Amino acid sequence: MKNILITGGAGFIGSHVVRHFVHKYPDYKIVNLDALTYAGNLENLTDLESANNYTLVKVDINDEAAVNAVFDKYDITDVIHLAAESHVDRSITDPLIFLRTNILGTANLLNAAKGKWSDFDKHIFYHVSTDEVYGSLGDTGLFEETTPYDPRSPYSASKASSDHLVRAYHHTYGMQIKITNCSNNYGPYQFPEKLIPLIINNIVLEKKLPVYGDGSNVRDWLYVQDHVEAIDLVFHKGTNGETYNIGGNNEKQNLELVHLLCDTVDAQLGRPTGDAKSRIEFVTDRPGHDKRYAIDASKIKAELGWEPLTDVATGLGKTVEWYLANGEWLNRVTSGDYKKYYEVHYG
Ligand code: NAD
Ligand code: TYD
Repeated sequence: MKNILITGGAGFIGSHVVRHFVHKYPDYKIVNLDALTYAGNLENLTDLESANNYTLVKVDINDEAAVNAVFDKYDITDVIHLAAESHVDRSITDPLIFLRTNILGTANLLNAAKGKWSDFDKHIFYHVSTDEVYGSLGDTGLFEETTPYDPRSPYSASKASSDHLVRAYHHTYGMQIKITNCSNNYGPYQFPEKLIPLIINNIVLEKKLPVYGDGSNVRDWLYVQDHVEAIDLVFHKGTNGETYNIGGNNEKQNLELVHLLCDTVDAQLGRPTGDAKSRIEFVTDRPGHDKRYAIDASKIKAELGWEPLTDVATGLGKTVEWYLANGEWLNRVTSGDYKKYYEVHYG
């Protein structure tokens, strides 16, 4: 019997993970622990409200008493930890909340698990992290699991710290842990502060399309459903104490990606080709902007047989389709606080 605590399950990736586990494993009880910050949205999970193996608890991972109470009340056997402050630009303007949630919050969860679990062999603490902990690549090379950590933004530094804490609980106390470091995710339900949904939203609204610097920075794009399949595999079959890199095998320069998005959205909206591209605007670069991220995912392929199935053209096609069909979702999440954020960040 597994009672799995999934943290951050109302966010982008978390909602896909929760949905996958609730449907695929009806014998597991899934408890979604989420503080419902600006990035957490119950609308991402409305289809699960009637599922009898699913519960949501609105709790901050920093709240020691509340987290302990959840472990007790639901007899939590395993954790899949996704809750985090996740946006690099926000970490540049407000670093402290990143340290609180991503470092102290993770420590608080680890401590609650340590207090609750008597036989670590029977329990798993799975930590979802980012490739950004490895720093920035030049034109060549790939991040491997053994690449030394070199985080360069407050966000990546906070995620690196949390990875170290998870490993410390493994080495010091013997907790069974698994860590994955993945590349940039995209797909339905992503909050439109991140590049892909922000550009889609701006194209729809016929606004300028902000590209940082000269648009030559490279990211490796991972379709969220491919990531979810990898999480399922690592959770069930990954080796205790190990780290696995997860990548999309889809490296693109930002400008190239934005061009692809422009063509995809124009085509799906029936607008003339070139319409969206004419609104691309090169804006002031992000401070400390990491040049290139790229993943060597050969370990997870060799050990667990996982590889990404979605190429970026197919994934973007599905993503654009979802955003165009869910304009109401987009309108709701871009009202209120989003407007203020956009005004401050993009002027
Ligand atoms: P997101 O910002 O969309 O969602 C984060 C979720 O965590 C939200 O539901 C939010 O309400 C919740 N949360 C934030 N602070 C909390 C707190 N103090 N207590 C409880 N809940 C809190 O993030 P995402 O893009 O879905 O990322 C999920 C995880 O994956 C994060 O750990 C992130 O670092 C990691 N990751 C994301 C990407 C990516 O491309 N999105 C890539 C690599 C790793
Ligand atoms: P983002 O989606 O914020 O992810 P991350 O910073 O974690 O990689 O950004 C992806 C890339 O797109 C990154 O190189 C920064 C760039 N970018 C823009 O050019 N314009 C934008 O408005 C945003 C949000 C990002």
